[in-house]
Amino acid sequence: MELRPDGIIRLDESVPAVVLLDQRRLPDAIVELECRTVPELAEAIRTLAVRGAPAIGVAAAYGLALAALRGDDRAEAEAVLAASRPTAVNLFWALAELRDDPTPERARALHDEEVERCRRMSAHAAELFEPATRALTHCNAGGLATGGYGSAVGALRAAWERDRLQHVLVDETRPLLQGARLTAWELEQIGIPHHVIADSAAASMMARGEVDLVVTGADRIAANGDAANKIGTYSLAVLARHHAIPFYVVAPTSTLDASTATGDAIVIEERDGAELTTRFPARNPAFDVTPRELITAIVTEDGIL
Ligand code: MRU
Repeated sequence: MELRPDGIIRLDESVPAVVLLDQRRLPDAIVELECRTVPELAEAIRTLAVRGAPAIGVAAAYGLALAALRGDDRAEAEAVLAASRPTAVNLFWALAELRDDPTPERARALHDEEVERCRRMSAHAAELFEPATRALTHCNAGGLATGGYGSAVGALRAAWERDRLQHVLVDETRPLLQGARLTAWELEQIGIPHHVIADSAAASMMARGEVDLVVTGADRIAANGDAANKIGTYSLAVLARHHAIPFYVVAPTSTLDASTATGDAIVIEERDGAELTTRFPARNPAFDVTPRELITAIVTEDGIL
């Protein structure tokens, strides 16, 4: 089954509503969620019904178009969406892009452009794969996370189509299992051989020589090249360096944040500890920052940096 961009997220002007494939229910159920108001959409973003940096941006763009269709106060709609999640810069980028033209046409164009960026950067990233590459990825940076095609999973897909990919290890990505639930499901749809591993198994898989490269997406890339991504990405980058394995970040230019000098200034979302345990107090940072010196290359639609 091909995940079509409008099957992941779309604006239905007849309701009007932003309609999402509810990612909280995957892979067990394919269920759509209809958000008829901006607060409903912001709640869907906060609770990860739609997630992944570029997809959050696309959702926010449709959200501003929804607000305009409904005749809502635009500044208030923007403030509600901006407060949904703090780390992915694509959210704030998309809100700024739609500010002066919050029309369905502009929102759809932003969505199409984002998917096109994914296709282009994935083609560039595939050049980094040797024949029969065994890759490892973290979280979900697929079509679900980008509104279509994918960034890190897009790179895996492009490498697979070029006959350069043998196998993918998928970190389960605790605590919310974006890898085990979403990336594994997407790889299954595409037909790419894969195995889910516990996050803590990555080190020993590298030590056993079973990983040729690591590829991830990003939620925000600072001006100096430090990259925020799902919690656990930094430890993978440290492990990759120890084992002399290349570590690649694949992300569209909408994830670049020139106004943030270094990773230290990136706001890291702390989610409810109940996602980990309700028995004890818990800390639950959702993202971490990988310093630029641990990143072998950043790939955008403009090429390999
Ligand atoms: O909390 P999530 O699921 O929104 O986190 C998503 C990630 O960390 C992705 O790796 C990132 O957004 C890149 S998606 C192309």
